[in-house]
Amino acid sequence: MSSIIVVGSGVAGMTAALAAVGTHDVTLLTKAELAESNTRYAQGGVAVVIDDMADPGAPHLGDSVASHVADTLVAGAGLSDADTVGILCAEGPAAMDELIARGVPFDRHDGELSHGLEAAHAFARILHAGGDATGAGIAYALIDRVHESPVVVRERTTVVDLLLEDGRCVGVRLLGGEEVRSDAVILATGGAGQLFPYTTNPEVATADGLAMALRAGALAADLEFYQFHPTSLDAPGNFLISEAVRGEGAVLIDADGHRFMLDVHPDAELAPRDVVARGIAQQMARQPGIPVRLDATHLGAEFLARRFPNIDAACRAQGHDWATVPIPVTPAAHYYMGGIRTDEWGRTSVPGLYAVGEAACNGLHGANRLASNSLLEGAVYGSRVVEGIVSPAPLADFDDQWQAPLKLDLTSDPDAQDVSRTDLQQLMWEAAGLARDGADLQQAVAELRRWRSPEVTDAKAAEDANLLVVARAVVASALAREESRGGHYRTDFPHTDPEQATHSAIGTPTQQKV
Ligand code: FAD
Ligand code: SIN
Repeated sequence: MSSIIVVGSGVAGMTAALAAVGTHDVTLLTKAELAESNTRYAQGGVAVVIDDMADPGAPHLGDSVASHVADTLVAGAGLSDADTVGILCAEGPAAMDELIARGVPFDRHDGELSHGLEAAHAFARILHAGGDATGAGIAYALIDRVHESPVVVRERTTVVDLLLEDGRCVGVRLLGGEEVRSDAVILATGGAGQLFPYTTNPEVATADGLAMALRAGALAADLEFYQFHPTSLDAPGNFLISEAVRGEGAVLIDADGHRFMLDVHPDAELAPRDVVARGIAQQMARQPGIPVRLDATHLGAEFLARRFPNIDAACRAQGHDWATVPIPVTPAAHYYMGGIRTDEWGRTSVPGLYAVGEAACNGLHGANRLASNSLLEGAVYGSRVVEGIVSPAPLADFDDQWQAPLKLDLTSDPDAQDVSRTDLQQLMWEAAGLARDGADLQQAVAELRRWRSPEVTDAKAAEDANLLVVARAVVASALAREESRGGHYRTDFPHTDPEQATHSAIGTPTQQKV
């Protein structure tokens, strides 16, 4: 049997590992415990259109896969690929059946699956588990299935680089130098929230897979598109206040108690995420020192505690009784639309190397991800990437929707200092955060050259080196896109330019042609 290494134990990695059982010897490597991932912290749920959405009078009556596709394309701001979106939405119901069969305890009402509403969805189509603990429900069910399976699991195992032979990926190198070889490597290493000082992501989200892939010569795509969640609790840790809270009717108010989002967008609090996040940031600038607040008080203590038990506990732990007093909220880095460039089978531009989930960019999310589409992505494409390895379809033809790749310059100044993570995060927030402009980005390019990768003696140093690689790629990509679109907002180019409705690509000069 041929062998597969899966790196990462979120929904994408565990789904891929389970899908490969029976056809491959599977090794799952993950740098913390199996449960530690962005997946584990996901709250709102999984967007999917399933057959049994038929209870009379429910707002989801009449929902369709076509409507889910349409909402995803609108959120993607002209950059989502219709094919990859179509696959996601059409294969979503079967992926949910599989998650249910694997033991995910989605919430039910009178025996029927419950559905929540989130921003930019035309229908209430968000399945959730444990109220606001959907990610934990998925993670722990998949962990149980992985433990029952023949998958070889190695926890607390940090992958630091890919092994290449004759341009093909043949395995991985671990921290400490051990080499593990395989016929295929799937990177499911998740997101990059730790590029920024304020993030909803856990500490493991340091863009490791993306950095390794770039170092190995793989192409990355759409790295200028980062999603900032509008509502994290304005307190250390930036605990996420799910969009589902706004979906249930909570509103954003300024220092005078005015619902300022009504002045920004007709959909107010349920406008696309980038619009709400910028609306909040602009309001914060207008009332310095006074936080913007999310008012959920009219929903009542009993409902809030029942529907959002984790958020309820987190607010109370920070001293906020959100049932009686509106809570302070602020935008925070949340989800990376960009990633390792793949086709719809998870294949990268390096033979033998595959990528899936938040680490990958197959063009699905375009310039802005629709809420609750990423758990679904992990479930759908996590299986598909294995199908792509087992019976490879013809290599995808990346057509002219993809721009010629930028060359990523990873050189540092001769007198460069070891990178400091906190300085890098602050620079990224200021230059490549919610609002960017050419001058700041140019300056950031120069600043980043003044830092070099530290010697990789421990996991933290490996992560810092990766964050530096990816920060350079983000800034170069953001500088190159001279327009505003979705999660990429340039104050010097505030409008969307129809001529630029193409995916960007970036790679080191050793990159190979797809
Ligand atoms: P992850 O779940 O992040 O898993 C990545 C894995 O890779 C981790 O196990 C990590 O330890 C491992 N890893 C990383 N680097 C290495 C390395 N060098 N060596 C070994 N292992 C490594 N999406 C939704 O659709 N609905 C939601 O309601 C939702 N809510 C969210 C709430 C929060 C607070 C956050 C942070 C995200 C939320 N998202 C939500 C986004 C979603 O959770 C993620 O996009 C998705 O779970 C990513 O899954 P993944 O498997 O690709 O990566
Ligand atoms: C949330 O619950 O607001 C997060 C949903 C998502 O990121 O998809």
